[in-house]
Amino acid sequence: MSQIEPAKQTTKVFKSDQPALIDPALIEDVVRPSFNRCCADSSEFFDDFYFRLGNRLPDVGALFAQVDMEKQNELIREGIADLIAYASGDSNAEAELRRLAKSHSRSGLGVAPEYYPHWIDSLMKTMREYDPDATDDTEVAWRRVLASGIELMIAGY
Ligand code: HEM
Repeated sequence: MSQIEPAKQTTKVFKSDQPALIDPALIEDVVRPSFNRCCADSSEFFDDFYFRLGNRLPDVGALFAQVDMEKQNELIREGIADLIAYASGDSNAEAELRRLAKSHSRSGLGVAPEYYPHWIDSLMKTMREYDPDATDDTEVAWRRVLASGIELMIAGY
């Protein structure tokens, strides 16, 4: 993929390869319920997420043009669930993220680290639209919870 400008908003990442200690309440009482509200009714949440991502990064949008988006929506639903589960120390989620890191690495899809803040920002904008109960605190919780899994993906580039 071509070089891109860094995103204005960056995601805080953790240096350790272990998930940072996250208050379990942030995961169970804030982020999981928010994610459930986002995808409660249909897969529109994921369609909108990919639409946003494709608008921000046209070369990524082009890559997805050939993809079966119904299937992709299901895969990304699981991927996001794995990011959340990894923050709570789930070793199956960690194994799956390591596989995804490989598939996205320079020897695979070639998703360079600077793409990830765009991915996260697109996800957060979509979350704010689809979760009727979301506040700034909800978004802060999401970003904190996803950060260690994102860092694992980036470290595998
Ligand atoms: C932590 C963040 C991410 C997660 C959890 C994630 C998850 C996934 C999953 C589950 C797939 C399905 C294929 C597979 O299982 O290997 C996939 C494919 C893909 N992802 Fe990601 N992804 C992430 C970040 C990104 C970023 C930042 C980009 C680029 C901006 C990206 C671009 C793609 C592309 C182009 C495909 C291939 C679609 C295809 O050709 O089938 N992903 N991703």
